[in-house]
Amino acid sequence: MSMNEYKPLIVAFCCNWCSYAGADLAGNNRLNYPADVKIIRVPCSCRVNPMFVLRAFQRGADGVILCGCHPGDCHYTSGNYYTRRRMALLFSMLDYLGIERERTRVEWVSAAEGAKFAATMNDFVETVAALGENKRLEDLRCKK
Ligand code: FES
Repeated sequence: MSMNEYKPLIVAFCCNWCSYAGADLAGNNRLNYPADVKIIRVPCSCRVNPMFVLRAFQRGADGVILCGCHPGDCHYTSGNYYTRRRMALLFSMLDYLGIERERTRVEWVSAAEGAKFAATMNDFVETVAALGENKRLEDLRCKK
């Protein structure tokens, strides 16, 4: 890998009960995924207000992924159903604004799926890297 190779900045919102534990398991099992994935732990995937996603893009994220419990397994019963509907709407609006669909994703990852977590992150990073930097919503005042 060359020193100047572009590495996308990825924000991953993970629910505490399944996906964050899945990320932990991936770490414990030494499964690799890029360090440029910044994990933000949330109590439930439905805690992610659409504004969080917009804000992440504004502050320079190249891709945003939400991970939650599998349908039917949400710790709060139906939080992930709200997430699914809310994000479907948000992602299509972002697509309309020029943020490619591939830059956003929702995935269900259980606490036992460390391997799936690592594979999902690797695949997402690769997909976003192919798109290049996200400039569309970037607020240059947030640049370091
Ligand atoms: Fe995991 Fe709701 S607690 S999605």
